[in-house]
Amino acid sequence: MDLIIRRATLPSHAAGRDSPVDIGITGGRIEAVEPHLAASAHEEIDAAGALVTPPFVDAHFHLDATLSYGLPRVNQSGTLLEGIALWGELKPHLTQEALVERAMQYCDWAVARGLLAIRSHVDVCDERLLAVEALLEVRRRVAPYLDLQLVAFPQDGLLRAPGAFDNLKRAIAMGVDVVGGIPHFERTMVDGARSVRMLCEFAADQGLPVDMHCDESDDPLSRHIETLCAETHRLGLGGRVAGSHLTSMHSMDNYYVSKLLPLMRESGVAAIANPLINITLQGRADTYPKRRGMTRVPEMLAAGIDVAFGHDCVMDPWYGLGSADMLEVAHMGLHVAQMTSQAAMRAAFDAVTVNAARIVGLRDYGIEPGCNADCVVLDARDPVEAIRLRAARLVVIRRGRVIARSPAARASLTIDGRPAEVDFKLHR
Ligand code: FE2
Repeated sequence: MDLIIRRATLPSHAAGRDSPVDIGITGGRIEAVEPHLAASAHEEIDAAGALVTPPFVDAHFHLDATLSYGLPRVNQSGTLLEGIALWGELKPHLTQEALVERAMQYCDWAVARGLLAIRSHVDVCDERLLAVEALLEVRRRVAPYLDLQLVAFPQDGLLRAPGAFDNLKRAIAMGVDVVGGIPHFERTMVDGARSVRMLCEFAADQGLPVDMHCDESDDPLSRHIETLCAETHRLGLGGRVAGSHLTSMHSMDNYYVSKLLPLMRESGVAAIANPLINITLQGRADTYPKRRGMTRVPEMLAAGIDVAFGHDCVMDPWYGLGSADMLEVAHMGLHVAQMTSQAAMRAAFDAVTVNAARIVGLRDYGIEPGCNADCVVLDARDPVEAIRLRAARLVVIRRGRVIARSPAARASLTIDGRPAEVDFKLHR
C-alpha cells in the first residue's frame, strides 16, 4: 500500500468503546479500514488513537469577497444591507488578479484547516462577470487539492438588477455549477416568489442543482422557503435543492413552522445555516430582547431535513473575523442552537462534514473502502473534543498524499509542583 494510518478513531466510534482502526490507502483511494491491518506501506502515520475524519466541507461561502476586509472601508453598522452596499462600492474596483490572489490565499488557509471542499457563491451582477472568470480560474488551479463548487448568485436581485438573469445564464454557460438566488432582496414578496420559480425552472431545464440565499431576514413573513419547497416538489428537484440562511424561520410563528417543516422534508429541500454570520447580522433592528436569528436547526434535524453549517464569510464586507476553521463554525452553531447534548454536539460536527458533503453532492466521500483517500488527523479523541478545542489539524491528506501539517496545541508550565505541560484534554 502507499500509506497506512494506524490506530485511527473514526467520528462514528463511540467514545471509549470502539477500538481504533487502521486505514490502508492505495492509488489515492481507501482500500481497507480494519483493526490491525496486516499489510505494509511506503509510509505509515501513527494516529495513536486520535480522531481521523473525512475532510471538512463548507457548504456556503463567498470566495469572491473573502479577505477584502476594509476595502474600500469597514461596515460601520454591521448590517447585511450595509454589507451589500459596501460590496457594491468595491465591485467596480475589483481586478481579476486581486480576486484570484485573495481566493488562492483563502484556499491555502482552508487546506491547512483540513477544509477540502467549498461551495462558493459568486456574484453575477456585473456585466463583465469578472468574479466568475476569476473563480473559474481558481477552481482550475486548486482542483488537485480542493473541490471548489460555484453557485451563480445574483447578489443585487434577479429581477431587481438589470440584466441579472442574462448574466446568470452566461455564468452557467461558462461552467458555474449551481443556480443561486436571493428572493428576499427582490422589490416585493411577489417578485421574490417569481424569481424562485424562474430560477427553479431554469435549473430543471439545465439539470442543475439549486442553492439560494433564502429569507435571510428577521421578517417572520418572509416565506420564500415555502415557494422553494413547492417549486422543488412541482419540478421533481428533490435532493438537489438547498435553502441557505432561512433566518426568517427563527422569527416565524410556531404554528406556521409546524406546517413548513414537513413541506421541506417532503420536497427534499436541504437547509444551510451560517451560524457565525446569522448571529452577527440578524436582530440588528432589535433592542432587547435581541433575536438570535439562526434558523431552527434542531427542529429541522428532528424532522429529517438535511442540515449543514456554512462559514459564509471570512474578512469581507459582512464579517471581519474567521480563518477557514469549520470547527469554529460548528462551535458557534451548537451554542446558538443550544445543541449541547452529546448527540447534538456530534450532529454539529456532522453539519460541517458528512451532511455538508451530501448536500453539495460530493462523491466518494468518507472513511470507507472505495472512497477517496481524503482525511484529517485531529488533535482530539472524538468529535466533541474536536469542537471544544477547535483541535489542531495534525495531518491533512488528499488522495493519499500529505498536503498540510500543524503542531499540536501544547503549553509548557513552569510552576513548582504542577505539570510541565498541558494539552487542554481531560485526563482521568
Ligand atoms: Fe451567503
